Amino acid sequence: MAPMTPPRGLTALHLRQGHPDFLDLPWHLPLEEWTPKVCSRLVEVPKGLSRHTVVFVSYGADIYALKEMPVPVGQREYEVLRGLEERRLPAVTAVGFARVRAQDEHGEELGVLITQYLPSSLPYRVLFMNKGLERYRERLLDAMASLLVRLHVGGFFWGDCSLSNVLFRRDAGELQAYAVDAETSELHAKLSDGQRELDLMIMEENVTGGLADVAAMVELPATLDVYATAPSIRQRYERLWSEINKEISISPRESYRIHERIRALNELGFSVGEVDLVASGDGSQLRMRTIVTDREYHRHQLHNLTGVVAEERQAGLLLNEIREMKATLTREVNRSVALSVAAFRWLDERFRPTLNRLQKELGPATDEAELYCQVLEHKWFLSERAKKDVGLAVAVKGYVALRREQPALALLRSASVPLTTEDTLEDSRAETPPPTPKGAPLP
Ligand SMILES: Nc1ncnc2c1ncn2[C@@H]1O[C@H](COP(=O)(O)OP(=O)(O)OP(=O)(O)O)[C@@H](O)[C@H]1O
Ligand SMILES: [Mg+2]
Repeated sequence: MAPMTPPRGLTALHLRQGHPDFLDLPWHLPLEEWTPKVCSRLVEVPKGLSRHTVVFVSYGADIYALKEMPVPVGQREYEVLRGLEERRLPAVTAVGFARVRAQDEHGEELGVLITQYLPSSLPYRVLFMNKGLERYRERLLDAMASLLVRLHVGGFFWGDCSLSNVLFRRDAGELQAYAVDAETSELHAKLSDGQRELDLMIMEENVTGGLADVAAMVELPATLDVYATAPSIRQRYERLWSEINKEISISPRESYRIHERIRALNELGFSVGEVDLVASGDGSQLRMRTIVTDREYHRHQLHNLTGVVAEERQAGLLLNEIREMKATLTREVNRSVALSVAAFRWLDERFRPTLNRLQKELGPATDEAELYCQVLEHKWFLSERAKKDVGLAVAVKGYVALRREQPALALLRSASVPLTTEDTLEDSRAETPPPTPKGAPLP
């Protein structure tokens, strides 16, 4: 067999398993010159500001982000992103790294980092353009603070936390934030207070600067003050950080307080890896310190029970449904039923049939857990109005009718706001537009 000639311009390609080979891309051209004419895979999705050129390509339903940068910088970022993935921290996933000689053969060699497009993600600008922003503001600030806490717990020094370097995903009425740019980042076993403080200072400077830039172009909603927003994120960060790191003093007879403390952290979504108990001076008291490992307590639990991948708050809601099912089954058979048994029944009788039905009616969904949570939310709304449980079938029917009426029904929703038709118009602006071939008008 004749050896394969590498595509023009490509000097090396490092790729992870399970993705396309990307060999059909016009590597001989700088990313800036990729147009629909030379690259039919190009798609346009909303993105944040960036110094480097970033383009998106699609292979079937899978979309990838390509970022052109100097080779050593790109290689480092690839390694850091792999490290983040190993530590299960919320960030985009690195897929590969290409080395290209774009201009001519004497030209400088450049690197192209390939990451998986984070599905259903929104850059902050899309959130800002939404008229209904007010209700997401608090969530955006909490999501940013929670992301920084999670990354710091995992030993990640970001070095460039900004609004543009965060992507937001909806999570049952709230937002989850993901890191998208790790060029300046470092992974450590543990961060010092100094490193955390530096990261917070960088965040404050970047967020304030970013907001000032946006404010110069469009009028920011009154709730998003250029100078008050970053300090508010810091405050939320500090509150959360001290909550998870606080030491409590208990007497040896109050061992139930150990469980109480762990449960309180679990409620906040944190998994507790270790508990340290140290006797104080005269031994009459114990100092208790907990070490949290991640903020995915409910996600892990749901995944272990059902295999369903969900965001943290979605997982919390779905687990509540499973617990409800366990209680019902227990009552029916008059003896305790294991949660795993209830989880199986729930998957089989509620989750899967509901999603199948929705798929038949509305087409394939990219974010099944969110979709199911929206139906649940609609069920609560209808039940509250009817003053009785309307059941899942009625909720599905109502939800489908609403989505038909308003196809662009926003997927970014607040759990506290009932699903009504008036609500959908302004919300629809917050939806991530589906990827469109580059050159074609955005919807
Ligand atoms: N994997 C991805 N999924 C979704 N969006 C992405 C992805 N990678 C990049 N983007 C979008 O592209 C934008 C620019 O990416 P990135 O921040 O990595 O570029 P950059 O040039 O390094 O930025 P900076 O100027 O902060 O250094 C991001 O704000 C994000 O909106
Ligand atoms: Mg960036």
